[in-house]
Amino acid sequence: MAESFYVTTPIYYVNDVPHIGHAYTTVACDALARYRRAAGYDVFFLTGTDEHGQKVEKAAAERGEKPLDLADRVVTRFQDLWRVLDCSYSRFVRTTEPAHRRAVQEIFGRLLAKGDIYLGEYEDWYCTPCETFWPETQLIEGNCPDCNRPTEKLKEPSYFFRMSAYQDALLRHIEANPEFIQPVSRRNEILAFVREGLRDLSVSRTSFSWGIPVPGDPKHVIYVWFDALTNYVTGAGFPDDPASFERYWPADVHVIGKDILRFHSVYWPTFLLAAGIALPKKVFAHGWWTVEGKKMSKSLGNVIDPGSMASEYGVDAFRYFILREVPFGLDGDFSRDALIHRINSDLANDLGNLVSRVLAMVGKYRQGVVPQADPSGGDDLDAQLRQGLADLLPAVDRAMDELSFHRALTAVWGYVGLLNRYVDSTGPWALAKDPALASRLDQVLYNACEALRAIGLLVFPFLPNTGREIWRRLGLARPADDGRLDELRTWGGLPPGLQTDRGQSLFPRIEAA
Ligand code: ME8
Repeated sequence: MAESFYVTTPIYYVNDVPHIGHAYTTVACDALARYRRAAGYDVFFLTGTDEHGQKVEKAAAERGEKPLDLADRVVTRFQDLWRVLDCSYSRFVRTTEPAHRRAVQEIFGRLLAKGDIYLGEYEDWYCTPCETFWPETQLIEGNCPDCNRPTEKLKEPSYFFRMSAYQDALLRHIEANPEFIQPVSRRNEILAFVREGLRDLSVSRTSFSWGIPVPGDPKHVIYVWFDALTNYVTGAGFPDDPASFERYWPADVHVIGKDILRFHSVYWPTFLLAAGIALPKKVFAHGWWTVEGKKMSKSLGNVIDPGSMASEYGVDAFRYFILREVPFGLDGDFSRDALIHRINSDLANDLGNLVSRVLAMVGKYRQGVVPQADPSGGDDLDAQLRQGLADLLPAVDRAMDELSFHRALTAVWGYVGLLNRYVDSTGPWALAKDPALASRLDQVLYNACEALRAIGLLVFPFLPNTGREIWRRLGLARPADDGRLDELRTWGGLPPGLQTDRGQSLFPRIEAA
């Protein structure tokens, strides 16, 4: 049986509609999931929505709606967007599902039973937008140190999780597993935080009711982050489907934004340690987007709607931009100029022109049929093209192991450049003038098409429509979705005799406004 690969996005709050931040994580996870499928893994890709908590309860109340009705509406917005952006998740988990409630109550119950959760009293400053308690010393002029909004003092009976008891175990785990928290700058921040000491964590609330009740004490609802983080095991089948859970857990990677790293690399692992469940292998925190140099916010009215970007510029162009423009893990800036520049240079000029050029020549000189040729023959130029692909595959693999999407794409575009140069140097238009060079022309056109087959499959995880379209134009009957990277390891996999289709320009140039 194929090895499993389990990747997760955060589950998104339903009090807000999807924006570029949500699209960023989900598209990145999708590229990784598609790449791993092409590498032969049995991939499980989880996304979903975080529907409980005071924030959602308030948002619903302001609209005069029941929280679940609000959630039902917003969930559709997320699911529609993932369809539009071609995100191939395996399961969409909602925290209001009965299966999730069972998972949360099971873990909470286990911790209660072993004394790692106990009843106490909580008094501290609470930031509702962040759903986080803060000690007075960390407030900045009374405001939340994360979002700078006002906090309120809350005192209530509360269940506590004995997080302090797991400080040493967590520290040892982080130290022994350099890969556990990525990128490394973020790992250092978390190490410093844990070394300062972990306090026990309040994990229930009595001041509102929209949540999962504490088993045996329904006046309390379970803290929304305890509830939300558990989605990662619910999604894999805990506790109802042990075979699936066994197969996919521990997750290979939780991909998240940098603002929620502490929840994922301190709270979540200590909950799991206490519950006797294996820890995820990696937590990767990506950076944040600003928009045209400014922080994205509703009040500035500059929130980027990924759906409208995709309809204006194309789904693949949007996906390409967000994964190529900024190294994953760093902050970046979204601007229309930068997007248009990427589309015109990388997509229209480099890739789009290459595909039309090669297929136009196959059309003109060989009636659109992929010629027969000896795939291992030719001169240095042909050898370079073959070697270029042999070198590219491990380079992309290494980049994807490190979630370095921009490096993977840069490497693939390096090969696009190599094929462009191959066409320039072999000069099919000149070969076509001399009938004595017909077999050399066959060879050049075959090799160019063979290289396009590889490019189609390698761009597919990032630009699914483009990958599919390149394969379709080459006359391949199977969709790129079914392609495997192993099929690229031997040069010459493209069957001769296929009827190609030149098609329209893949990426029309955009004139800057
Ligand atoms: O945090 N640039 O949900 P959320 C990049 N429900 N990423 C951004 C961003 C920006 N400008 N703004 C937000 C939650 N994000 C919880 C998660 S997981 C068990 C529970 C990212 O709807 C942010 O970093 O607020 C986070 O990863 C996601 O969008 C936020 O989702």
